[in-house]
Amino acid sequence: MSFRYLGNKTRLTDWIVGEIANVLPSGSTIADPMCGTASVSLALARAGYSVSAADALTFPVVHAKTRLLAKQPPEFRELGSYDMALNWMNSAKPIEGYFFNEFGEAGRPANGRGPRLYFSAENAAHIDGVRHNIRELNASGAINELEHSVLLHHLMLATNRVANISGTYGYFLRKLSKTALRPISFEPIQFEKTLGNHTVLQGSIEENASLLKADAVYLDPPYTKRQYAGNYHILETLAKEDEPVAVGDGGLRPWKEQASNFCYRRNAAMAFRQTLEQLNVPHVFISYSQDGQVEEEQLLSILRDYGKVTLHEQPYTRFRSNDRVKNGTVLERIYHIETF
Ligand SMILES: C[S@@+](CC[C@H](N)C(=O)[O-])C[C@H]1O[C@@H](n2cnc3c(N)ncnc32)[C@H](O)[C@@H]1O
Repeated sequence: MSFRYLGNKTRLTDWIVGEIANVLPSGSTIADPMCGTASVSLALARAGYSVSAADALTFPVVHAKTRLLAKQPPEFRELGSYDMALNWMNSAKPIEGYFFNEFGEAGRPANGRGPRLYFSAENAAHIDGVRHNIRELNASGAINELEHSVLLHHLMLATNRVANISGTYGYFLRKLSKTALRPISFEPIQFEKTLGNHTVLQGSIEENASLLKADAVYLDPPYTKRQYAGNYHILETLAKEDEPVAVGDGGLRPWKEQASNFCYRRNAAMAFRQTLEQLNVPHVFISYSQDGQVEEEQLLSILRDYGKVTLHEQPYTRFRSNDRVKNGTVLERIYHIETF
């Protein structure tokens, strides 16, 4: 399963899990409180760890619930089966609703701006139809919480495949691309029967750090100024199942309250300190790239206040989107802190 996501570690999971496994035996507990697509959470779960995943935003929590907690296809008793749930989404009746109007090529945004070309008219109406059906099914009590997450997870994956964007939802392309013109479709995913006891919750690391009880914490904070809440506003809206005011030409949901301190150069060092100050675990692993908001020397000096630091490095060609990256390859780093 591939996700286009800033800082997604899918291609680095063998290395990350390998470094963690050099320190912690399989069966240990580990928290991934900035889990994003949950790719590291899942890789840790596959390696036999019990994982607690979390994120400040809602949609990563939906991904994590599906990828960690759904260990087999849910029953979907009301819809017949998992396959029938996919058919149900594939054949949803289109609705000219919020997505059609705010994010579709034939829409009429409420703020009077021109149509936003995030989706073809057909796909936007299909998304509205699926959203409506999921909301009704959930309100009727016919699905459990995990089944609800699995449906929303599928809706996000299917939406990502036909979004008319270049990398993030920060803005849409001027013309509908070939991919965006394909009809949206809901494809089966693999469910993985991992051994551990996993948990998933939502909240910022600032709120959660002192509550984390684990043998280790893996931190993967944002390292650029690009805020996830703004760049993935459409996914947040799908996961929250709401209809927020769509602001400006790009139609972003109001996101400032969800802004991350790690994305501000002036606040990122303080955010690291605040987090480390509250953590009470023997090992902390941090992924942070060479060109992050906090310079390497400053980060090292912060981390050394909390324990013995070992640095591991790996060259990496990163997901670029609109970032300016000089030669496409950066050094990805894992800092291991054996805490005092
Ligand atoms: C680099 S991404 C994580 C990528 C993830 N490891 C993956 O492989 O997909 C950073 C994540 O941190 C989350 N985040 C940012 N600030 C946060 C905070 N203060 N507390 C919790 N999560 C935060 C973002 O929503 C984003 O999902």
